[in-house]
Amino acid sequence: MPDFDNTNRSYQHQFIRQNSAMLKSIYGTTEVEPYWIADMDFQVAEPVTAELQRLVDRGRYAYEMVGDEVFSAPTSWFQRRHQLGLNPQRFIMAPGVLSAMSLIVRELTNEGDKVLTQIPVYHQFRKLINSANRTLVTNPLINDERNDGKNGYRMDFADLEQKFTDGVKVMILCNPHNPVGRVWQENELQQVLELADKYDVTIISDEIHADILLHNNRFTSLVSLLQKQQKPSKHIALLGSPAKTFGMQGIATGFIYIEDQALHQRFNSLLESMYLNHGNALSSYATIAAYTHGDAWLDQMLAYLENSLSWITEFIEKELPGVVLSQPEGTYQIWLNFEQSGFSAEQIKQALVAAGMGLSPGGWFQSDNDFYFRMNIAAPLAPMQQGFQQLKQQLSAKAID
Ligand SMILES: Cc1ncc(COP(=O)(O)O)c(C=O)c1O
Repeated sequence: MPDFDNTNRSYQHQFIRQNSAMLKSIYGTTEVEPYWIADMDFQVAEPVTAELQRLVDRGRYAYEMVGDEVFSAPTSWFQRRHQLGLNPQRFIMAPGVLSAMSLIVRELTNEGDKVLTQIPVYHQFRKLINSANRTLVTNPLINDERNDGKNGYRMDFADLEQKFTDGVKVMILCNPHNPVGRVWQENELQQVLELADKYDVTIISDEIHADILLHNNRFTSLVSLLQKQQKPSKHIALLGSPAKTFGMQGIATGFIYIEDQALHQRFNSLLESMYLNHGNALSSYATIAAYTHGDAWLDQMLAYLENSLSWITEFIEKELPGVVLSQPEGTYQIWLNFEQSGFSAEQIKQALVAAGMGLSPGGWFQSDNDFYFRMNIAAPLAPMQQGFQQLKQQLSAKAID
């Protein structure tokens, strides 16, 4: 049984999440538990470690011939976990999801062209659009905030259509959505797809969080909708990686999956021409091991997350009135709104740091106000519980001030 309660900190490391210079620059102190960057504070699944150990034990790192399993393993995984039938020949290996996305955006658009994303959203989308000198267009999600165990975020289709009418070329979809935690339903995706087809917009579907599903939520890939259409499609569905699922951010590669044969051929040639369509032995074999033997570990990890989420939800309801948690359907991020807490955004920020909680400020994700924070809960529960208790004390003290 994996031990998710304890983090091994006995070794020297350079993890960004714990890096003192990073913590200092974000929080002004190193005395915070890092609940910001979206990776895990857990030991990875044993089969992944065993496979990496096997490779290291060989003591050689020659050019490696990695077999077809590197695509057949995720193909079986998607079938097992999501009942999604993929064709192993439609994968393209890429250095990671963001590098693949950046390349695709540059290939499909010219400088100045409009690229749309739904905000609040993972901040690197904005960065990669801006740094390619494309024009960022945003389609804000609507938040019907609710406290009944449901996530209140939904898409604004009227606004999306308006933006598409104004000449958007590419839309970057995030499913499941980081940071608000929605796992988009088939009918929502269908509407996006119909609008995209109507206005000749290409969708790039980032599905890196597909496996992190909480409380029986089911994942629908855009690929399954394209398969139903049974016609050539210009959409790039999906971009994925074992990184988020198995805590392999430091070693994972990513992949592009394109259903349409001609389009697949085009992007395969593009990546090949840049020598980017191969991983390295460590990442490739770790990927195969994770997708082949990682089910049990992932199930246990998800159960751990659900238990932590239940505790956090109850604590917030009882002890932190005015704080709204958008119940995540997927991802290990929780999205907290302190707007009704009665404190200023600055007071909240100070209270979080004083409570030793290093959360990501909502502004990073282009949320519309400073009261939102994202917390990564892929971490041992006890320190998170301590953090929330300290937060309560900090806020009570501020109320008395
Ligand atoms: C939605 C989303 N896409 C992509 C990434 C990063 O992917 P990669 O490290 O493979 O570039 C993240 C990491 O947080 C993410 O949340």
